[in-house]
Amino acid sequence: MKKTILLAATLAASMGAAAQGQVNIICSVQADWCNMMATVYSRTTGTKVNMSMKGSGEALAQLIAEKDNPKTDIWFGGTGDPHLQAAEQGLTLEYKSPLLPQLYPWARKQAEDAKYRTVGVYLGPVGFGFNTELLARKKAQAPKSWADLLKPEYKGEVQMANPASSGTAYTVIATLVQIMGEDKAFDYLKSLHKNISTYTRSGTAPIKAAARGETMVSISFVHDVTTEAIQGFPVGSATPSEGTGAEIGSMSIVKGARNMEVAKKFYEWALTPGAQQFGVAAKQFQLPSNSATAIDPRMPDPKKIKLINYDYAKYGASAERRRLIAKWEKEINSLPR
Ligand code: G6P
Repeated sequence: MKKTILLAATLAASMGAAAQGQVNIICSVQADWCNMMATVYSRTTGTKVNMSMKGSGEALAQLIAEKDNPKTDIWFGGTGDPHLQAAEQGLTLEYKSPLLPQLYPWARKQAEDAKYRTVGVYLGPVGFGFNTELLARKKAQAPKSWADLLKPEYKGEVQMANPASSGTAYTVIATLVQIMGEDKAFDYLKSLHKNISTYTRSGTAPIKAAARGETMVSISFVHDVTTEAIQGFPVGSATPSEGTGAEIGSMSIVKGARNMEVAKKFYEWALTPGAQQFGVAAKQFQLPSNSATAIDPRMPDPKKIKLINYDYAKYGASAERRRLIAKWEKEINSLPR
């Protein structure tokens, strides 16, 4: 009898699975989190999840390239500015989740700024990572401010990502422009260039290099430093004393998605506390956007960080984002070191 029930249940589950279809996701958070979301969602719903991982800038470039024939249904995670740019370019669908009232104001504001073509899924502040063993060996101090990063002792010892591919790096540049004003920020980036060993493709590569002793300092989201620290790497983090910006990691449904109904179901699931807990389970410590999701003590506390009033709408606008990235390429990246 029991066996029959079990068999019936298995059969129902597999039939349900067949009916649940598939969803194509571009995922712009770290691989462990992407993979956990895909595995849990496909096991619990029977939906086939095709996940590809791309940095925020690269994900946007793919959506632009697919505009007339979208192959992607959902873009999950990555910094908010390129999601806003995608919204403005009409690449993503206007959709109001019934869960919006449960989200923190910063996540709802992100949706409003995009005319509901994206939504905030997490928040993460910009800061520095550093390898404590390398610092001690070279008798160098850990950086505490943007100004500190220009010290000669860090020559060739700082890594940050390239803003064309990485949303992390674009958030850094937009933050500096807001703190210093554009001219001073570009003067600063020119000076910083002398201390930079390489501009990486991915936003997390600099802290992974610091963790493995390949560079002393990284410009990173502080939660990405925590991910390395809890795995036993000798890294610490700081947020700049002059103030800093934060990303609003976002999620968007692609306009004209082939698997629209399934995409909406995944989107709704990803906004629930039940799904958002998988961030911490995958060792990711951004602040989740649903106010009912448990807060982990290892997440950054925005009250303890000097956060600027980042103008997401301005720096997520297509023209501004393109202009700043092109200016950085021309005036900074092309300079000799
Ligand atoms: C990491 C961080 C995320 C961030 C993403 C951006 O995964 O944990 O919070 O949104 O990087 O990646 P990118 O390569 O675009 O800088």
